[in-house]
Amino acid sequence: MYNNWEELKQACKNCKKCRLCNTRKNVVIGTGNKEAKIMFIGEGPGADEDEQGEPFVGKAGKLMDKAFIGVGIKREEVYIANIVKCRPPQNRNPEKDEAQECKEFLDTQINLVKPEKICLLGSVALKNILGEQYGITTSRGKWFEKDGIKILPTFHPAALLRDESKKINFWQDLKKLMEDSIT
Ligand code: URA
Repeated sequence: MYNNWEELKQACKNCKKCRLCNTRKNVVIGTGNKEAKIMFIGEGPGADEDEQGEPFVGKAGKLMDKAFIGVGIKREEVYIANIVKCRPPQNRNPEKDEAQECKEFLDTQINLVKPEKICLLGSVALKNILGEQYGITTSRGKWFEKDGIKILPTFHPAALLRDESKKINFWQDLKKLMEDSIT
């Protein structure tokens, strides 16, 4: 675990712990409010994110921004990160070992931000954070808890681009994220 943001940044930039370092243009660490109450965790950078060094700036990110506006989430008020910080080639899913090597970076981010709630975007984030046994279709929209943090899985915004019927669920889940204080 790293002690502060600067240490984390240096470690990420110099990271060669897995094969994704060979093909990346930029390490995409995370963005947003470092004291956010809500954190979003996606899968990994795509081509646009790799190019710009920022998470969720491509097509899926733009759709997420629209949904954020609709439910009153300000992007600058939340913190957004990914399971892996470097783009998997051809946008394939991150391999288990890649996610494992990258875990210390995400753990550090969670530890530094100390969010009250985490929204997991899609199956890769769900399985890496809560466990392989969970499926996104049955887990989305339900609250979980881990290490004192409330966790709400939902669909990955890229899934909404493939299947419009999931949009309503995504919106409902974001509203739940904003409204519910679970006890
Ligand atoms: N998809 C993700 O999971 N993360 C990004 O940053 C962009 C697209």
